[in-house]
Amino acid sequence: MIYLIIPQKYSSRFVEYFKKNQVDAKEVEECFLELDTNDYALVNNLISKDFVSRYISRMFFVDKKITNIDELQKINKKIRIQVYPKIQENKVLEKLEERGFDLSPTEFEEVLSVVYVNDQCYYGLLNKKHYFRKIHEKKIARAYYKIKQLVFEKQIKLDNKVVLDVGAAPGGWSEYLKDHVEKIVAVDPAQLKIEGDNIVYFKNKIEDVISEVNNYNYEIIICDVNDVFYSVFNNILKLNYKNKQLIMTLKFSKKSLKKINQDVEEIKEFLKMYAKDVEILFLFANTKFERTLFCVLN
Ligand SMILES: C[S@@+](CC[C@H](N)C(=O)[O-])C[C@H]1O[C@@H](n2cnc3c(N)ncnc32)[C@H](O)[C@@H]1O
Repeated sequence: MIYLIIPQKYSSRFVEYFKKNQVDAKEVEECFLELDTNDYALVNNLISKDFVSRYISRMFFVDKKITNIDELQKINKKIRIQVYPKIQENKVLEKLEERGFDLSPTEFEEVLSVVYVNDQCYYGLLNKKHYFRKIHEKKIARAYYKIKQLVFEKQIKLDNKVVLDVGAAPGGWSEYLKDHVEKIVAVDPAQLKIEGDNIVYFKNKIEDVISEVNNYNYEIIICDVNDVFYSVFNNILKLNYKNKQLIMTLKFSKKSLKKINQDVEEIKEFLKMYAKDVEILFLFANTKFERTLFCVLN
């Protein structure tokens, strides 16, 4: 088994994310997610993406069950220990120290995880090179992680593509895309904080530069404008939208989950006229009042 400590508000998104990647997951305790697999390589690949790892505070790999920590066989390597729940950590540390385990939080070869859950005790050892650590890189905007997850989940091909980025400022989406696409046409009346040889920037509202941007042969339209879906979509229909992939943030100002789900269904229904492959995702970096639309416009 693999266990993750995550913020509770992300638990349904984690379950969904793992399900899409053929891993069964469930929240066994508040903020504590159980992954029903010992395929560490697969899970490591999934959680090492920064759009996911930033929400994980700890990962435990356990593959053996014991009734008592005293049953743990002596490990003749330098180990770092991590225990869930944290309140048990000192007790486990003391017992292992008494038995002469070589413990060090910094100079270690293996990580020993001990997990107490469902009245059972589990443990597992993992080489240091697999030890989960968060990657912290400063990005221009949280939005960076939305486009990165969406591109990963939908396997969107970006090579040699021109992308129209509507509502581009401050530049999180462009920051991610500029290293992957041929050109970005960025449109926003607010200041874009990112530059690049492959970024063309219109400091305007999209409705005021339709003919100028339509001179570019864009194949993907991305749109993160803070406005209700129907009015933003009206502007999209003025673009060269046919056969283009559309990625768009849907904003639902302070509504209940039930109302958001209703609105999502209405938007899907509405889009039947205009698009195929419609999917509305709840990405890790979406606020609880946002979803992200992916579709291909007819
Ligand atoms: C949430 S921010 C976009 C964040 C951006 N995707 C990023 O990654 O940094 C929304 C942006 O939409 C812009 N916006 C609002 N109305 C717009 C319009 N009619 N045309 C273009 N941009 C607009 C705002 O100026 C604002 O910068």
